[in-house]
Amino acid sequence: MTADHLVVHRGKTPVLHGIDFALAPGTVTGLLGPSGCGKTTLMRAIVGVQRITSGMLTVLGRPAGAAELRRRVAYTSQNLSIYRDISVHANVAYFASLAGAPGDVDRVIEAVELTAYADRPVDTLSGGQASRVSLACALVGDPELLVLDEPTVGLDPLTRESLWDYFHALAAGGTTLLVSSHVMDEAVRCDDVLLMRKGLFLAHAPIHDLQERTGTRTPEAAFLALIRGKEAA
Ligand SMILES: Nc1ncnc2c1ncn2[C@@H]1O[C@H](COP(=O)(O)OP(=O)(O)OP(=O)(O)O)[C@@H](O)[C@H]1O
Ligand SMILES: [Mg+2]
Repeated sequence: MTADHLVVHRGKTPVLHGIDFALAPGTVTGLLGPSGCGKTTLMRAIVGVQRITSGMLTVLGRPAGAAELRRRVAYTSQNLSIYRDISVHANVAYFASLAGAPGDVDRVIEAVELTAYADRPVDTLSGGQASRVSLACALVGDPELLVLDEPTVGLDPLTRESLWDYFHALAAGGTTLLVSSHVMDEAVRCDDVLLMRKGLFLAHAPIHDLQERTGTRTPEAAFLALIRGKEAA
């Protein structure tokens, strides 16, 4: 997928100020940046629920939001958009029927390690378990592009680790993933990172390259060095 001078307003305020990037298929790209920098806005544009002001946004060879992308692109929003009063299985089954993939339910519940909880109403699960239900819903129908808005927020280190491993397993199978986080340390989990600040990208590269380029040893330090470099320039 590619963005070409993408500008997006929310209300009257410009939020994305003309960004360019391309995502390599079969990779995990981290979309990192401080709160309010525009991560969710970009993700919403990619999945076609946010109007673009100007520029081009091409997803799997089609303009973002094209009807045929509905089954090829999946999104988990930052606010869980699942039904809390019905079971895990019922939630996933609902998404599976919308996606035309009713046979996927048990497989995706297993993939997010919730088989033992399948019959429990979502509101009896922990926060991390509930967020994995929304991931399961996104996985039905084997989307080619997965756009995940802060899927690891609030998860313990073990669950986080197993989710990142799972993302890489999906990428190895050819899925393209864009995963946002405002925890800079998650950069080490990604093949590539898009560092965003105030609606613009500071960098797009593997975190090791950015650390080398800036002579720093942590993702956080690299990010700060890039900001200072930008301000000095
Ligand atoms: N519905 C809206 N109307 C007007 N402005 C909005 C709206 N939603 C978000 N914004 C503004 O757009 C900017 C980018 O918001 P966005 O949600 O994309 O940031 P984010 O990087 O996802 O932040 P976070 O890490 O907190 O989720 C912010 O300044 C925000 O105040
Ligand atoms: Mg956000």
